[in-house]
Amino acid sequence: MEKIIVRGGRKLQGEVDISVAKNAVLPIIVATILNPTEIILRKVPMLEDVTVLINLLRELNCEVKFSPITGDLKINTSNLKEIEGNNELIRKMRASFLVMGPMLARFGRCKISMPGGCNIGSRPVDLHLKGFKALGIDSEIGYGYVEAKIKNLHGNRIYLDFPSVGATENIMMTSVFAPGVTIIENAAEEPEIWDLARFLNSMGAKIEGAGYGRITIHGVSELKQPEPFTPIFDRIEAGTFMVAAGITNSKITINGVNEEHLMPTIEKLKECGVYCKMDGEKMIVDGTGEKRPVDIKTMPYPGFPTDMQAQMMALLSITKGASVITETVFENRFMHVGELGRMGANIKIDGRVAIVEGVNNLTGCQVKATDLRAGAAMILAGLVANGQTEIGEIYHIDRGYTNIEDKFRKLGAEIYRTYR
Ligand code: EPZ
Repeated sequence: MEKIIVRGGRKLQGEVDISVAKNAVLPIIVATILNPTEIILRKVPMLEDVTVLINLLRELNCEVKFSPITGDLKINTSNLKEIEGNNELIRKMRASFLVMGPMLARFGRCKISMPGGCNIGSRPVDLHLKGFKALGIDSEIGYGYVEAKIKNLHGNRIYLDFPSVGATENIMMTSVFAPGVTIIENAAEEPEIWDLARFLNSMGAKIEGAGYGRITIHGVSELKQPEPFTPIFDRIEAGTFMVAAGITNSKITINGVNEEHLMPTIEKLKECGVYCKMDGEKMIVDGTGEKRPVDIKTMPYPGFPTDMQAQMMALLSITKGASVITETVFENRFMHVGELGRMGANIKIDGRVAIVEGVNNLTGCQVKATDLRAGAAMILAGLVANGQTEIGEIYHIDRGYTNIEDKFRKLGAEIYRTYR
């Protein structure tokens, strides 16, 4: 079984290039279903989740050419066919529920497996279905499937009880062709929402206000072929390397980032004693100073990202003093606490609150990735632990990070992957 091995104690130095964002590129690939023409996406990262979507589109009779070297992804969904039965690939990745909206737009109906939960939570889709209903789409759940049919597609006003990223994306894509105007109130504001709207508008959709709490979509009758499109950089990958500088007391440069999308992480790290300064498109991260305990409450953007919670916990587990981390977005996103505990961290959980008491050092041992970001946190802990850390179940990490060990090795870390 593949493992990532990390030997602690090395300082980091040099530069790291940040890849295009997993959570931007996945909905954008799905959105190509809306437009039966050749579409080129650039700098698409080689990620497990991207491979799943590419294989799904191929299975649905689409033409897909991917060049992992250049990152160019050519998609033509002109000959798309409907999803049949219990599609294994749909079940493999939760984000594939995003195909519901575009498939409805193409065929007027769609039946796909109910996305299961995952380690971090039950991951319901009630807000997606509430949006569909408002747009004139009937849906029902039964026998492990969600079946939806367009009754009479029309624009409408939809209020989301929670600013769900996936529900915002699914509703936005479904309403592109809905006659009239759709308004999504309390919409998710993540940069990836803004990027999906940017992509849809590049094809002739009429979407305003994406990235803010209210999104307005004016229905159009068709879309046009877009220019080649490059999605935004991965703010969570960038944040992971910013924390790496802090946990190893190093100074590194991170390339290809935008300060605004990183603001919540920059501010929290500043509070903790890690300083980030932009120099053009490069960010200099100085983690060499004294670290201070901080309190974190994960919130929808522009609050502190839940996808950075595990990485910050690794840093705070060796930061003298008590830090309080409250996870408000997912109901079960503390599985990495047990794994950090195996390395000597002193963390107590009370419901959605974790109290982290900094210890002098961590010690390397066998641990596992319990979800994508928890896996990244184990690498960060391994960078600073005494001895060797062996991380198992790294398929979680490969879902969202491209060649993460190569990027860390380039910065001077002693890290490699074993295949036995
Ligand atoms: C997206 O997941 C991201 N995934 C997640 O990244 C990220 O953690 C999450 O947004 C929050 O930022 C992708 O973009 C592929 P949500 P998503 O719908 O869309 C509840 C990573 O590590 N909810 O905003 O599934 C839900 O239970 C992954 O890259 C409902 O109640 O997130 C959760 O508590 C992990 N009903 C909260 O909203 C619904 O219909 C946030 O979920 C939908 C969601």
